[in-house]
Amino acid sequence: MLLHLNQVLSPAEVSRARECLCDEALWMDGSSTAGAQAMTQKNNRQLAQDSEVSRTLQAMVLQAMQRDPLFFSAVLPKRILPPLFNRYGGERNAYGPHVDGAVLRATSAGEWLRTDVSCTVFLSDPAEYDGGELQVQDTYGNRGVKLAAGDAVIYPGTSVHQVTPVTRGERLASFFWIESMVRSDEQRRILFDLDMNLLRLREQLGETPETTALTGVYHNLLRQWAQT
Ligand code: NI
Repeated sequence: MLLHLNQVLSPAEVSRARECLCDEALWMDGSSTAGAQAMTQKNNRQLAQDSEVSRTLQAMVLQAMQRDPLFFSAVLPKRILPPLFNRYGGERNAYGPHVDGAVLRATSAGEWLRTDVSCTVFLSDPAEYDGGELQVQDTYGNRGVKLAAGDAVIYPGTSVHQVTPVTRGERLASFFWIESMVRSDEQRRILFDLDMNLLRLREQLGETPETTALTGVYHNLLRQWAQT
C-alpha cells in the first residue's frame, strides 16, 4: 500500500528543518550507508547521523509522525529506525532502482529491525526543483510521488524504488523505516480499510450495534496478525 499523508510537518517545522540543514559541513556522501546493490545506484548526500542537528531533527520528525492518526492506522508501528536526511542536487542528484535491506540497525551495535514500511517526508516544495521524483514499483506498475513540503508517503519496504535525477534546484527529504506489528502489507491494507470505513460509518451513524461488532472484528483480526 502506498499512502500519502498530508502536512505531517507544519510549515514552521519545515522551515526549522531547512534552516538546520543549510550548514554544508553536515553533509556526507550518501553511499556510506547503502548495501552492496544499493551502493551502485546511490548518488546523493546524507546528513551525518552523529550530529546534534540530526538528533534534534530526528526527534521532531518522530513526534510529528506520532501525531498523525493515519500513520498509526496504516503502519501499526512496532519499532521505528531513527529518521535520516538526504539531499539531491548538483552532481549528487539521483538514486537509481534499488531495494532497501530487509533488516537494518540504527548503529553498528544496535538491534536489528525488519524494514516492513518505508517513509519519506518531503522538505522541499516541488516548485523548487525539477526531477527528483520518488518512483515506487508496486503491483499496479510504477507510481511517481512528488509531494508538497511537509507531506509524507509510506510504501512497502519490499518494493523496488528510485529517486530520478534532480536537474534543477535541490530536493531535501527525511526518510526512515518502520518494523510493523503486522508484517504483511496485504494484512495491513485490510486493517487500514476496515479502520477507515469504521471511522466514516461512526461519523454517519454514531455508535450502533453493527459498528461495535465490526470494531470487534478489527481487533480480532489485529490480535490474529499482530506480533508485539
Ligand atoms: Ni531506498
